[in-house]
Amino acid sequence: MVNVSSEAVLQAAHVLSQGGLIGLPTETVYGLAADALNPQAVDAVFHAKGRPANHPLIVHVADAAQVALFAQKVPAFAQRLMAAFWPGPLTLILPKQVGVADAAAGGHATVALRCPSHPVALAVLQVAQRLGVQGVAAPSANLFGSVSPTTAAHVREAFPSLLVLDGGACDVGIESTIIDCSRGAPVLLRPGMLSLSQLSEAAGVPVLHSPLLENTSAPSADALIEQAPAAPGTLASHYAPRARVRLLTSEDMLSRLSGMDVQVALWTRAVLDVPAGVRWVKMPSDAAQCAHELFAQLRAMDAEGVHEIWVETPPDGEAWDGVRDRLQRAAA
Ligand code: TXA
Ligand code: MG
Repeated sequence: MVNVSSEAVLQAAHVLSQGGLIGLPTETVYGLAADALNPQAVDAVFHAKGRPANHPLIVHVADAAQVALFAQKVPAFAQRLMAAFWPGPLTLILPKQVGVADAAAGGHATVALRCPSHPVALAVLQVAQRLGVQGVAAPSANLFGSVSPTTAAHVREAFPSLLVLDGGACDVGIESTIIDCSRGAPVLLRPGMLSLSQLSEAAGVPVLHSPLLENTSAPSADALIEQAPAAPGTLASHYAPRARVRLLTSEDMLSRLSGMDVQVALWTRAVLDVPAGVRWVKMPSDAAQCAHELFAQLRAMDAEGVHEIWVETPPDGEAWDGVRDRLQRAAA
């Protein structure tokens, strides 16, 4: 199993059962994981990330049978979404069982649930469950406000003393699609790699688009947290690297490049003939491959110390919704 031994899985599950934290690979991004029903462990996650405690965490479960422990009133469309996409990169917001996982839910009356498909994540969840851990709260394993980690090395950079299971580079590469199933109709809160039409078809009813998603250009963090539980993950600068990110057409890039006095790195689908000293990297023309590389590419360019990262505006079309969303937020 991707270089992770069953001893390492057992050790990680044991740490979780003792109230400790681990770095957990999933198919989307790496998580900073803790026992969702242990309030001290969940507090430690908020503290380690520097995340406001009212900003709720996703609870990861070993299978759909665990949902009843955390959620009540699971609508038929939510059942259908789980049947279609679990295990996988889909998170559902559901009305929370009273008195359960209050810390993980950040004081909200709803809970976010996901069953991941990464074999290491599933193995840890299953073994931890046998040790008494019914669900694992795990936000992305980055400091609050920075780019999500897609390799074990990214996690170790932020949390050097954390036990991290190395499950390889995350397949999907951007965070899970989040659908609010607590409002009578399914509402997309965070686009991921599952398209709206795929989701609607599986749900059997149209999945609606949250008006908050239109607003990638920055109400303040506090204002958005005030609007919780709608979608705290839509903090405008949530995915920003240090370098300034700009979304431009390749024509715009070429015309701006002449006379530039700041260092830039370019990520474009078009093959560009750039002046010496300008770093250019080919952006995949396939949306899934692009998502897979996105965060690692932003990190790598950032680490080179460029002042600006110019990314070619993604194509129209729902296949690119998740990538477009992350890039717009990185550029906000
Ligand atoms: O792919 C993923 O979802 C990754 C991996 C580790 O599973 N996790 C992740 O967690 O992205 P995090 O904490 O970085 O993002 C969780 C998002 C946040 O935007 C949070 O506000 C939202 O889920 N969320 C959690 N509970 C919620 C709730 N009850 N209502 C609305 N949004 C909620
Ligand atoms: Mg995150």
